[in-house]
Amino acid sequence: MPAISRRAAIAAALEAAGEAGVSGEALAADLGISRVAVNRHVASLRALGYEIESAPRVGHRLVSAPDACIPEEVSPRLTDPIWVACEGGPEVISTNDEAKRLARAGAPEGTAVVAAVQTGGRGRFGRAWVSPAGGAYVSCVLRPRLAPQESAALALVAGVGAARALKALGVPVRVKWPNDLEAGGRKLGGVLVEMTADTDVIEWVVVGCGINVASRAHERGAAVREFCPDARAADVAAGVLDGIAGAYREFLPSGFEPLRAEYEAVLAVLGQDIAVSDATGSRVAEGVVTGVDADGALVLATPAGERRVHAGEVTLRR
Ligand code: BTN
Repeated sequence: MPAISRRAAIAAALEAAGEAGVSGEALAADLGISRVAVNRHVASLRALGYEIESAPRVGHRLVSAPDACIPEEVSPRLTDPIWVACEGGPEVISTNDEAKRLARAGAPEGTAVVAAVQTGGRGRFGRAWVSPAGGAYVSCVLRPRLAPQESAALALVAGVGAARALKALGVPVRVKWPNDLEAGGRKLGGVLVEMTADTDVIEWVVVGCGINVASRAHERGAAVREFCPDARAADVAAGVLDGIAGAYREFLPSGFEPLRAEYEAVLAVLGQDIAVSDATGSRVAEGVVTGVDADGALVLATPAGERRVHAGEVTLRR
């Protein structure tokens, strides 16, 4: 679990105390703060949607916690040792933008940013990523000691990590190269990787992932709840972050090769006749997908022989 805020610690203590509740005095002593400060934190938890009963001489009892991807709910659920901090809040412009800001300010590897709503979420190719309530929007700062050209596969590594988490929840997830997440042939989420590097070494990478947990705003999209009716946004968010951390750790010593077969097993377009377009919409390649290579490039069989594509957007030809 990362270092959590006092407010998150109070939420976790209330959750752990269950029906019995916990006294303000005990919370204050445990956290080394005053009872006035405890009351202030309890008030701010209520403002976030926590239903908390408070009574003199009895203390505070949690009635319900919000089903939302907020640091107070996500941070206690994170289990991978990589996590050192979990920032964000109920609404941010973009968790990737916030993670990039933190990375530039020197935030260490393992800094996560989560939000329940994004007002300026961004997708691949500079597109907007509509991010209403009912989603899990997460980003993290990584600092791999890699050359910039070795980072291309990181987008696929993140896809493997997110897919593991969704599979564990019972979602029949598939990945459309490089890392669109689909279920039932409909888009469920996506991954956006951004980085800064010197000429020969990466300074930081921000991996962002957005998953539709329960929103009906995406008319033609899929939602985790269709497959896992009890899924909570914070469980999805923590699972995806832990999944990304686990896949990243496997990737670091020997690259994408150890994860390649797992990626291909969930590759939605394997064996399909597809076209790949660049950011301007121009077609850059066509062919039948035979797999991905050890760098994460898409491998196509074409009439002119094998072709490898390193970037682009895939559409089915028939
Ligand atoms: C895509 O185009 O498929 C990638 C979408 C990535 C969206 C996520 S939501 C969390 C993070 N913050 C952003 O602004 N974008 C990514």
